[in-house]
Amino acid sequence: MSNPIQLAILASGNGTNAQQIAEYFANEPAVNVNVIIYNKKDAFVATRAKNLGIDSQYFNRKDFMETDKVLHCLKDRSIDYVILAGFLLLVPQNLLDAYPNRIINIHPALLPKYGGKGMYGHNVHDAVVANKETETGITIHIVDQHYDRGTTLFQARCIVAPSDTADDVAAKIHLLEKEYFPRVIEAFVLNKPMPKQE
Ligand code: GAR
Repeated sequence: MSNPIQLAILASGNGTNAQQIAEYFANEPAVNVNVIIYNKKDAFVATRAKNLGIDSQYFNRKDFMETDKVLHCLKDRSIDYVILAGFLLLVPQNLLDAYPNRIINIHPALLPKYGGKGMYGHNVHDAVVANKETETGITIHIVDQHYDRGTTLFQARCIVAPSDTADDVAAKIHLLEKEYFPRVIEAFVLNKPMPKQE
């Protein structure tokens, strides 16, 4: 069998998606979660990485934006694809150039709605509820030099009930993320058909 495809996960916070991806691919010999890279020193994702037995590395904003440190880390580890799982910095050009069409992101809304700078995590769910949306969902897309703009690979939807709070919406979104993000990554990197929302 050929060598497993090497993934790097980039995250900024809690890391539930990073954990779900790592657990999913623990049973998939063709894909290896090689490293979890994070940009906030106290991010809980570092604890999750330790518990999962996956290497983790911290780089600050300056390392990302003004140096090639992250790029060297990815190259030293022979990383094939970069997965953004709750990563809140704009991806710098040196990484985009090194990984064209090989960086993907999950966004907790139906892009192009509720995307762009400042639209992350709970801010998105607050806006969805404030605007009385009747549905929302997740978008998994290729990353380019703009926030939340690259080609869409997959979307899944859920209903927003009139009584739903932003926390209720967040819970529905987390279920969709758990169900689909690892499977979409698998389909993308192994060139298989995308899942369809049941
Ligand atoms: C996830 O809901 C993800 O979709 C969102 O941040 C959360 C991270 O949660 N990403 C964005 O808003 C990107 N603009 P996690 O750290 O527990 O995986």
